[in-house]
Amino acid sequence: MTASKRKKLLAGNWKMNMRLAEIEPFFTAFSAALRPGVSNHVDILFAAPFTQLHATLAATRARGFAAAAQNMHFEASGAFTGEVSAMMLTDIGIRTTLVGHSERRQYFAETDDSVAKKTITAISNAVTPVVCVGETLEERKSGATFQVVSHQLGAVLNALKNHGPVQNREGFYPGDLSDSIVIAYEPVWAIGTGLSATLEQAQEVHGFIRKVCDEILGSEFAVRARILYGGSANPANIAGLLSQPDIDGGLVGGASLKAADFAAMCNAAMS
Ligand code: 13P
Repeated sequence: MTASKRKKLLAGNWKMNMRLAEIEPFFTAFSAALRPGVSNHVDILFAAPFTQLHATLAATRARGFAAAAQNMHFEASGAFTGEVSAMMLTDIGIRTTLVGHSERRQYFAETDDSVAKKTITAISNAVTPVVCVGETLEERKSGATFQVVSHQLGAVLNALKNHGPVQNREGFYPGDLSDSIVIAYEPVWAIGTGLSATLEQAQEVHGFIRKVCDEILGSEFAVRARILYGGSANPANIAGLLSQPDIDGGLVGGASLKAADFAAMCNAAMS
């Protein structure tokens, strides 16, 4: 499969933003700024806080977009105060979640091990995990970028490999795994800083991630898997990023809170 066959995915990560009253006005403005037909060619997704998922789901469904959670627990149920399971997400119709975002790793003790467990639980429940990896500034400066990324990604992909066929109620098997997982490269130093990775820096790591996918899960998976870039992506730099051979979309924080900016980015993904 060539890069052009991988459908572009633009995912907004609202983080802990967007009050209920803001959601409908956001989508009204967003839809108005979107070029006709974009959502037929580009997957458009919004990761909202748990309490805003119902409203986000209703607003996105009505318009041909999708809603996602920002996190989930890897156990099915039990004494895990404050947590939400994959089945609880599917109870309300959520079929995608972020997993292992660097803010979860940094502030909420998310580890490679928990990210791997969450990935398997998500896929087993027909929830697509958007698995986030990326190095800190110190790690980049010390030349450890590839090592960190391969470690983070390796934990997830090896867990999947060792687990064997993951069957969920839709019957996904490893052959279709590339449809059941999305990878996001988010260099921590680029998140919320206004300092995006250069096209060369981003493509270099994306190409490396595809190589790690190939090594662990094989070429069919590697060629088909979508790899998103995240970290100060904005309307000015998105076209360049998406023109790179191994960048299949964006995971967008700040700019996804501005309807016109995010619509412009989705429009750019179609051209
Ligand atoms: P920014 O786009 O605000 O840099 O955030 C990126 C991000 O963390 C998306 O998950």
